Amino acid sequence: MNIHSHGAYLAYEERLAQRIQTTLSRSLNRNLWKRILWRLGLAVLGFVLVGSVLLEYLRYLFPRINEMPFVIFLTVTFLLCPIIVISVRHVLALLVELQMAHVELLVILGNVVAMRDQDTGEHNLRVAIMAVRLAEAAKVAPKLVWGLFMGAFLHDVGKIGVPDNILLKPGCFTDKERLEMQKHVLHGYDIVASSEWLQGAARVVRFHHEKFDGTGYPDGTGAGDIPIEARIFSIVDVFDALVSSRPYKDAMSLNQALEVMEKERGTSFDPDFLDAFLPIAGTLYDQVIESGLDQHKEMGAAIIERYSGQ
Ligand SMILES: [Fe+2]
Repeated sequence: MNIHSHGAYLAYEERLAQRIQTTLSRSLNRNLWKRILWRLGLAVLGFVLVGSVLLEYLRYLFPRINEMPFVIFLTVTFLLCPIIVISVRHVLALLVELQMAHVELLVILGNVVAMRDQDTGEHNLRVAIMAVRLAEAAKVAPKLVWGLFMGAFLHDVGKIGVPDNILLKPGCFTDKERLEMQKHVLHGYDIVASSEWLQGAARVVRFHHEKFDGTGYPDGTGAGDIPIEARIFSIVDVFDALVSSRPYKDAMSLNQALEVMEKERGTSFDPDFLDAFLPIAGTLYDQVIESGLDQHKEMGAAIIERYSGQ
């Protein structure tokens, strides 16, 4: 029986998606409400300050002015504040819903492809977390980090378009099957590139199998022509694959994995990002590879809280 049609597996997938979604939604709401309170506070403060300055300026310009109309204007405006506040809250509530819909879409897409690929979805979350950690260590611009996180989570979404007899084949691929499998990169790009919100993710999806020396696929793009997000992602994706056990292989130790990766310096990997990765590899191994889903959810939620508004 195919594992994907097994009831227990499907139930597990559903539970996993629900748990991730619940955590993300709590985090996002907390984050946006903080922003709402900050903005409201700043709006009231700004209103008082600007009103006072204007009043003083009018007194300076027109010492004999009758202040009453202006005071009335300020008072009426202040009385309208509740309506303004309610409107702002309504707009921000819609914004929360919109962002939640985006995050839900992200989780659903990631889990759909994980189900097709005999995976629990945990790989997607692990590599997304490690990609962000590496980006932070390499001091990559924060505006790129959210796209990197989404792209890492969705990197293999194009496997949806690969036929089952190839995607789930237990043995080696023929040349024709390998080419068909490699098309998952383009399928994935077609899926995410149409979304304005997923443009950062599209750069990871499109280039995640390119290599620094230009021997990757689908185009043989190399070095600086590969977007930063994809150069970062390829390092953590290979690291996760090496130190994880699969049905066909045992997990490597941390040192074994780093030895293999060092040999790929300048061929598969950008040397600069590999230099940023090596010092944090031990920490990533302890905190991400050796930890469980609950910890991964917390780390993912913290990343969403920090970067989703960038
Ligand atoms: Fe891939």
